[in-house]
This record gives sequence, C-alpha cells and structure tokens, in this order.
Amino acid sequence: MRTLDGLDVEGKRVLVRVDFNVPLDEDRTITDDARIQAALPTLRELRSKGAAQLVLLAHLGRPKGRDEKFSLKPAADRLGELLGVDVQLAPDLDGAPDGEIVMVENVRFFEGETKNAPELAERYAALADVYVNDAFGAAHRAHASTEAVAHLLPSAAGRLLEREVSTLNGILQDPKRPLVAVVGGAKVTDKIGVLEAFLQRADTVLIGGAMCFPFFKAQGHDVGASLCEEEGVEPAKQVMGDEKLELPTDLVAGREFKADTEVRELSEVDVPDGWMGLDIGAGTAERYSTTIAGAGTVFWNGPMGAFELEPFAAGTKAVAEAMAATEATTVVGGGDSAAALAQFGLADRVSHLSTGGGASLELIEGKELPGVKALS
Ligand code: 3PG
Ligand code: MG
Repeated sequence: MRTLDGLDVEGKRVLVRVDFNVPLDEDRTITDDARIQAALPTLRELRSKGAAQLVLLAHLGRPKGRDEKFSLKPAADRLGELLGVDVQLAPDLDGAPDGEIVMVENVRFFEGETKNAPELAERYAALADVYVNDAFGAAHRAHASTEAVAHLLPSAAGRLLEREVSTLNGILQDPKRPLVAVVGGAKVTDKIGVLEAFLQRADTVLIGGAMCFPFFKAQGHDVGASLCEEEGVEPAKQVMGDEKLELPTDLVAGREFKADTEVRELSEVDVPDGWMGLDIGAGTAERYSTTIAGAGTVFWNGPMGAFELEPFAAGTKAVAEAMAATEATTVVGGGDSAAALAQFGLADRVSHLSTGGGASLELIEGKELPGVKALS
C-alpha cells in the first residue's frame, strides 16, 4: 500500500477522504468525535509538508439523496475548532471555495457515490492534484470517493489508514501468543467469518453477548425469552465442536430489556421461560478476565451483554477492565466495543482502538478492502 512517504504534496491541492461518520444527538451535536480526532495527524502532516489546500471528502449516515439532516456542517465546525482554522463547507462539486481547508458536503448526496460511478469520481478528481485516503472505517466500501477516484490521481494512504491496516494485519500474521479473541454482539451471522478466522489463528476464542444463544440452543439448552437469532443456529453448530471456543457458563437475566426490570443471576445457562439472558455471569466474567490477563495479544469485538443498561453492564465492563489491565497487546474493533470502552473511561487504555467497525471485521476475515486495494 502506498503511503504519505512516497507522495509529493508540496504546493499541491490534496483531496483527502476521511471517515467523519460520527454519532450525532437530536440537536445534531457530535457525541463522539474520535473519528475526527483520528484524522488530525494526517491533516497536520499534509499541511506541514506544504500542501496548498486540503479538500476533504466524507460521508455521514445513509441519506437517500440530498437531505440537510445529514449535512456535514457539525463535522466541519468541529474540525475547524480542533485545528484552529476556518473550515468552509462546499455544498456541491462546482469548484471548491478558497481556504486552506475546505470540506465538500456529504458525498452520499451525490448520484453515483455508492455505485462507484466513474463520472462522479472525475468530478472529485477535478478538485485537486493528488488523493489521500485516510477513511479506514469506509475502506470496505467500493464507492466513488474511496475507490474510483484513487485511480484518477497520484494517490496514497493517510497515516490512520496505514496504522489500522498494519495493526490489524499484524495480529493475524505475527501475534505475540497466546492470541485471544473476544467476540460478542447480538448476531452469530455477523461474526461467523471472524470466528472462523480466529479459530484458525487464535489460541482461545471467548464468546459473549446474545450471539451465545444460538450456540446454547444448538446444545439443547432453554433460551427462554432471550434474543436468539434463528439463522445463527446452523453456523453455530459448524464451529461449536472446536476446543478453542469457550462459551459462558453462567448468565445474568432480566424480565425485560430495561434498566429497572427484575434481575436474576443464573448459575448455569438454561434461561427460564419469561426471562432473557442479558449479560454473561460473574463466573464467566472472571474466567474471561483471567484468560485476557495471560494473553500475549487480545482482539475484542462486540459487547458481552446489554452494557447500556446498568444491571447488565458488568460482563462487558469486566472485559474492558481486563483489556485495560493486561500486559498484552490489545486491539479493539470499532462500533459497540469502542462505545463500551468510552462509557467506562478506558478508551485510551488499549493498544489500538480501531475507527472501523465493518472494515476491521472484513480485514480480519481476510477480505480485500476495496479502498486499500486501490492504493496498492
Ligand atoms: C461506519 O460508520 O461503519 C462507516 O463509516 C461506514 O458507513 P456505512 O456502513 O454507512 O458504509
Ligand atoms: Mg457500518
């Protein structure tokens, strides 16, 4: 993959694809600016190397056509604050405004973006002299701003994209052992590719979250009213026999999916009728924490339970704390696990917190990311 080390930017206009797909509240205030912060090293490096202008491309949400609810204005403003410069937002592609740093409005407002249309890529390319992709979180998308445009200008990966790819490839290719994968979340079908990849490479794979219920169902346990993905039962059966795979041995259950519900600790994994398993139990949390403490490398993706509800947060918190405390190299996939780490104030206590959810999982699964391939 080509990097900034080989790209001449002095005096040039640089088109930079960033992933500023940040969470916003109802007032359109950014609730977590980690992705904007993560792009700063590349933007600062380009400026210090004498780039004449930075023209930023980014997406926000999944709008169908132009829709002001999905405007990148909050992201442009936040970037301006962080860099201490005025960041203008260009509503369309008819020539970027003046200014050291300008941002083009949400690329998903433009016809052809998600279809990787060459005509749109030409219009992006006309805005600058060289192209830098630093949007790791969108690198699994073959879109005009992440793929087609990379072929039209001298192009390279930014520092964030470079670091994400080398860190994630590193844990697959040459991990310090034991390599432990902690995989949670709601659905087995979302994670089966990752499970298979780690069952080949890791020493231990720890499972948590609602995705354990298809496994329990396949083993003949009662799952009660737990969230149990039906389509997940077959894939669960496929990998279940592997001795590296560890499942919870106790659970915390609730009557309903809310914080002020009746709560019960289950000393095994059969869930009674009318109850739903919402977290791993204390015994499992302790066992998983011990495994993490003894690891050389840990990869974590997906919460252990409904951590957003206080009575069911302990399992995810135990894993987050074990990740923070271990001597191991710790890598966390984006999305919910990143949100959990942030909730517990531990985001800066891991070796690498990925800015990509889907992108990091696809990379681990061994898929080629279109945004990366285009720079190789
Ligand atoms: C993300 O937030 O997962 C990335 O920015 C990609 O967004 P997308 O899933 O809408 O393509
Ligand atoms: Mg996504």
